[in-house]
Amino acid sequence: MTGGALVVGLGSRAELWVRGLAARGRLAAFCDTTGQRMRVHNEWLTEAGYPPVPEYPAGDFPDVLRRVRPETVVVCTPDSTHAGYVVAALGAGCDVVVEKPLATTAEDLRRIFLAERASAGRVRVGFNYRYNPVHAKVKELLASGVIGEIGSVHFEWCLDTHHGADYFRRWHRDKRRSGGLLVHKSAHHFDLVSWWLDAEPVRVFAEGRLFHYRPGTGDGRFALELTDSPRLERLYGGAPGGYRRDLSPFDPGVSIEDDVAVVARFRTGASLTYHLTAYSPWEGYRVSFNGAGGRLELVVQESEWARPGSAQAAARLSGSPDIPPPVSTVTVRPQWNRPYRVELPPVDGAHGGGDVRLLADVLDEPAADPLGRAAGLRDGIRSAVIGLCANESIATGGVVDAAAALRRITGEPVAAPEGRRG
Ligand SMILES: NC(=O)c1ccc[n+]([C@@H]2O[C@H](COP(=O)([O-])OP(=O)(O)OC[C@H]3O[C@@H](n4cnc5c(N)ncnc54)[C@H](O)[C@@H]3O)[C@@H](O)[C@H]2O)c1
Repeated sequence: MTGGALVVGLGSRAELWVRGLAARGRLAAFCDTTGQRMRVHNEWLTEAGYPPVPEYPAGDFPDVLRRVRPETVVVCTPDSTHAGYVVAALGAGCDVVVEKPLATTAEDLRRIFLAERASAGRVRVGFNYRYNPVHAKVKELLASGVIGEIGSVHFEWCLDTHHGADYFRRWHRDKRRSGGLLVHKSAHHFDLVSWWLDAEPVRVFAEGRLFHYRPGTGDGRFALELTDSPRLERLYGGAPGGYRRDLSPFDPGVSIEDDVAVVARFRTGASLTYHLTAYSPWEGYRVSFNGAGGRLELVVQESEWARPGSAQAAARLSGSPDIPPPVSTVTVRPQWNRPYRVELPPVDGAHGGGDVRLLADVLDEPAADPLGRAAGLRDGIRSAVIGLCANESIATGGVVDAAAALRRITGEPVAAPEGRRG
């Protein structure tokens, strides 16, 4: 990606892109529905020694595109609004970098698919987890055949009662705006599995419910004080534009699940069992790959625990760089042989070091990447479709044909399962 970039949606996630673009002299302008957050990002730029950029209200985006004439548009708005910006930017011939999930409905995925086909611009999806060196190591090991053909994947992700509760304090709590955690959060996890397996989903079944953050339950330990974090207070204090960042997770109006279980089948024949909980005492994940030649186990602890109201809890919510790095282990258990721990690269930076590497890959001259980390349109569609099919399965109680869902979006046939047992 070269040339100037327009960033749409100046909340907390945008800071990564704003800093990265400013450092490369490629930040052109901001666009948001709310002036306060654009102003705060400009203040941060000035404080860091960069020039501020023009701020545009989001009302008439095509007009903003005509005025700014960016080469790239970076979309960091709430999930259900991604498609409108992506389609408009592609229509203007821009490249687009869009935060995950690509979109929250199958109709929007189709609109984006068609818009990219008709445009000179290309879509990149911000799947930073692929760039975490530990996840890259897992990809490298699996691709090298260390456990042979993969029969199944067992994946558990625990969000703790700080981070997990945060999805119930603002727009994510509304399924129409986030797609629920199966689309908003699991998009990362479903992308990782699809990338690790190098395969598309063919069938999905799911169960899910709101178990923990039920209206009227909970207590003061779940309250978020914006004043505990100067960063959050500057961005969201005073609820500009009516955006409350600090609702109680137990307030009425939650339409998303906090406990979900998914069973899926991929085109290679491999099955996935997946569980996400958003109310765990610790934060982290365990992924086990069962292969014809052995088993590979990844365990990552992001936080053992944090006291409510502590500096550590506030740092985790505000994305502060002071968060201690995760503790990761990868163990290979070959059939008929002694298990061994794999030496892992050091972790440096947010999201296990994924953010800084994603930024370099998207914004700088792309280097050759045998691991294929650059995520484009099809990767964004693939991961969102698993979440959407899981939502449909929860709603209907049935098994959902994910291959058909993909076909309806791309108009292309998807090959039948080709593993040992289809
Ligand atoms: N890759 C990651 O690890 C990661 C981490 C956090 C967030 N995200 C993604 O980044 C995006 C933004 O998340 P966030 O936490 O910064 O959210 P946020 O709510 O903090 O920020 C969103 C910004 O968009 C603005 N906005 C709202 N509606 C808009 C509209 N219709 N048009 C223009 N602007 C609008 C808001 O005023 C706000 O400034 C989401 O899609 C989220 O899924 C990705």
